[in-house]
Amino acid sequence: MPEPILELQQVSVHFRRGRVLLRAVEDISFQLGLGDVLCLVGESGSGKTTLGKVVAGLLRPTVGVVRYRGQDVWRLDSGAFRRFRRAVQIVHQDPYASLNPIRTVVDTLVPPLLHHRIARNRSDAIERAARLLELVDLVPPEQFLPKYPHQLSGGQRQRVSIARALTVQPELIVADEATSMVDVSIRVSLLNTLRRLREELGVAFLFITHDLAMAKYFAWQGRIAVLYLGRVVELGPTPSVIGDPLHPYTQALLAALPEPDPDLTRRKSKLLLRSLDIPSLAHLPSGCPFHPRCLRFVSGLCDVERPSLRFVDAHRSVACHVVVQERAAGDLPPSSQEAATRRADERMPFERG
Ligand SMILES: Nc1ncnc2c1ncn2[C@@H]1O[C@H](COP(=O)(O)OP(=O)(O)O)[C@@H](O)[C@H]1O
Ligand SMILES: [Mg+2]
Repeated sequence: MPEPILELQQVSVHFRRGRVLLRAVEDISFQLGLGDVLCLVGESGSGKTTLGKVVAGLLRPTVGVVRYRGQDVWRLDSGAFRRFRRAVQIVHQDPYASLNPIRTVVDTLVPPLLHHRIARNRSDAIERAARLLELVDLVPPEQFLPKYPHQLSGGQRQRVSIARALTVQPELIVADEATSMVDVSIRVSLLNTLRRLREELGVAFLFITHDLAMAKYFAWQGRIAVLYLGRVVELGPTPSVIGDPLHPYTQALLAALPEPDPDLTRRKSKLLLRSLDIPSLAHLPSGCPFHPRCLRFVSGLCDVERPSLRFVDAHRSVACHVVVQERAAGDLPPSSQEAATRRADERMPFERG
């Protein structure tokens, strides 16, 4: 296996709020290689943005190690740390906040190209900026270079943010809800642009979303990590996680996906959760943090012992006592295993090629 670009090893992030300790991210490990896609999915407050900041080197974890090309990033000298920060770029949710309103597109893209000596001179930089705009589907580029952010639509602004992230030739892009503020109608086209960047440039993605449907669409060839209250509860290849979700929380999330029949959705999500309230991070339930909402809850086990993330097959891991026991006992219906393998080979209807 090639050396990962980025590796998190048992990373936790704790915030102190007054006397209370918030365990925003707890004991998370994963690796990202060149061109990999990992999708972080979870409800608001589950620690997605915090984890994204850790990956991008904007936040130092309280516990654990972040490695960039094998090196602990928080022990790098300043030059090497800068190279790491350059290699991992964040695209935020809100392009209004991340673009300078008094800078035109050309003045947003040209300075980093010159500063990092990617362009030889200003005219080379403008040339490269135009090519980046083409790459993010803002064509013809001459039409967009002189524009100010307020002269662009939300979707176009987000494309400029993506082009700006690309100026420094990153190896990994952290896209934190990057498509959630644009209209549904253009969301898919923005996602397609991101997918093409992945395919054409080989950029790895940490794709953060609260919306499992987005994860499914963007990361079909990658992996999904489902976060619940700062912990990964399920991690595996997207087709298996979507097609054969194992953790009761993943099952509930999938059941809550919008469907043509809203009554059905409402019935389904009620069916899969004991409670709709998300516990507070400041007062985490004992044992499994999901147990107060879980339909498969076993008294005396789930409310006592915190389940750790365990492999249930070569590629998938789940943090659930009940699922892990079932798997170990081999008493899962065989059809469910079969279905997972079959679905992994199928392609989504919207996948190209
Ligand atoms: N700088 C901070 N100080 C204190 N608490 C924070 C800070 N950043 C995030 N949190 C808390 O950590 C938890 C996770 O937040 P966040 O990572 O933003 O979640 P998400 O992106 O999944 O909505 C939340 O309870 C949030 O209030
Ligand atoms: Mg967030």
